[in-house]
Amino acid sequence: MDTFEAISTRRAIKKFDNTYKMTSEQVESLMKLAILSPTSYNQQNWRFVTITDEQIKNKISIAARNQAQPADGSLVILLCGNLSAWKDEPLRYWKNSTDEKQQHVKNALEKKYSDSPENRRDEAMRSCGFAAQTIMLAARQMGLDSCPMVGFEYDEIAKIIQLPDDHLIVLMVVVGKSSEPAATRGGQLPLNEVVFENHFN
Ligand SMILES: Cc1cc2nc3c(=O)[nH]c(=O)nc-3n(C[C@H](O)[C@H](O)[C@H](O)COP(=O)(O)O)c2cc1C
Repeated sequence: MDTFEAISTRRAIKKFDNTYKMTSEQVESLMKLAILSPTSYNQQNWRFVTITDEQIKNKISIAARNQAQPADGSLVILLCGNLSAWKDEPLRYWKNSTDEKQQHVKNALEKKYSDSPENRRDEAMRSCGFAAQTIMLAARQMGLDSCPMVGFEYDEIAKIIQLPDDHLIVLMVVVGKSSEPAATRGGQLPLNEVVFENHFN
């Protein structure tokens, strides 16, 4: 499957085959690809909680307002942002580079994030968004399907996954085998409503 096909066949799946189970190797392959997704300054501020345990998946489903996907899908991934990533031994984000580069990034991270909870939160949203799409497209290449989800009770899921205080949950992605094709697309807006050449007006 090429990238265009993965993009055009990815759909938000509502019905997963609850008998299909991914292997731990498949989960690892998927997560190895997920961590290649881009982050500003390579700060790698996403944290992924991968859940295959049936009891926990069932609890997540209940917390997701009884939506079936987490219980029926094979793998539930909670994509979380680490809001302390900017100060969490940042030299290692450029460990393959020079000391000078490492120090430069450390200073830049301090400048951008130390006094700005907003910047920390925005960065978590951006990084997890990229990672989610990477996961969903990689899943297609593996012959699997997915559903991105935010329809859940945040505090309940935070409790289930024991979310650290300086992290936030950005979204959930369920991966598995669909048992029913997705419904017809809702309908895309016309290109000329959403794409502007050079400037808005
Ligand atoms: C941030 C986000 C949250 C979503 N939450 C849910 C959800 O809780 N339950 C669900 O069934 N679909 C959810 N969706 C799927 C969207 O409804 C779906 O992506 C959209 O209708 C477009 O359909 P498509 O992904 O099949 O192209 C979510 C999608 C996104 C991007």
